[in-house]
Amino acid sequence: MKINIKAPAKINLSLDALYKREDGYHEVEMVMTTIDLSDRLTMEATEQDEILLDVKAHFIPDDKRNLIYQAAVLLKQRFEVKQGVRIVIDKQIPVSAGLAGGSSDAAATLKGLNELWGLGLSLDQLAELSAEIGSDIAFCLYGGTALATGRGEIITPLPMIPSCWIVLAKPSISVSTPGVYKELDLEKVEHPNTKRLLQGIENQNINEIFAATGNVLESVTLEKNPIVKQIKERMLAFGADAALMSGSGPTVFGLVKQYSRAKRIYNSLRGFCEEVYMVHPWKE
Ligand code: C5P
Repeated sequence: MKINIKAPAKINLSLDALYKREDGYHEVEMVMTTIDLSDRLTMEATEQDEILLDVKAHFIPDDKRNLIYQAAVLLKQRFEVKQGVRIVIDKQIPVSAGLAGGSSDAAATLKGLNELWGLGLSLDQLAELSAEIGSDIAFCLYGGTALATGRGEIITPLPMIPSCWIVLAKPSISVSTPGVYKELDLEKVEHPNTKRLLQGIENQNINEIFAATGNVLESVTLEKNPIVKQIKERMLAFGADAALMSGSGPTVFGLVKQYSRAKRIYNSLRGFCEEVYMVHPWKE
């Protein structure tokens, strides 16, 4: 038996950190949506008691550092699965970008193996398990538009945001998520208006949604990496209705209602950045 599954990237329409918790994580409020930029995973059960990863991209580990591997081990050990699996990953989502590529791959692995190994777990059960290996995997299991609270693992599904153009640009720099959170000064940040954003989504009012976007982690990543700030400014200068960094960065995205403007932004960034995409909000 073989399973093919898509693992979509996400963007943060908002990312707010409320306070630092005793366990070292930040209590967050994030509104996220999945987009039509996806990795593809193929899973095949094997009789060898082994987890084999075949990653069709460089610079991605094929061992236990990979969240896909960790997700497979988690299910295999917890449910004493005797079968093995071979997972082939076709990477399309930029790596270490703030787009949850690794978390989405892990979510797809949990879903796929639940089916392949006949475990019969619910989405809620998979989400609870996923928190053992990462905070963003639970959101990726649900997909669509959702509010994530706690350390990011408590998911409240929301109506999908209205369709629009999303232009993504990732500069070729790396940022470390723990490093960004560590440098966050909650006294100094401007918090996004999550309530307004949720109301905008409820009312399917795209202008309200655009106006209420915000990400507290920009205060760290944009200041330390001028290129990220330049991309954001360029997106706005070329007519984006809103522009924001996703997650801890470094990817910046512009939200645009009009196709012609989105195309203009896309073209203006292609000479500036290696990885530029033009996509839509998307849910399977
Ligand atoms: O959960 P995950 O492994 O994705 O988190 C990576 C790191 O990001 C954590 O170790 C922590 O330093 C930081 N983080 C945080 N608050 C969160 C989520 C992540 O401080 N809510």
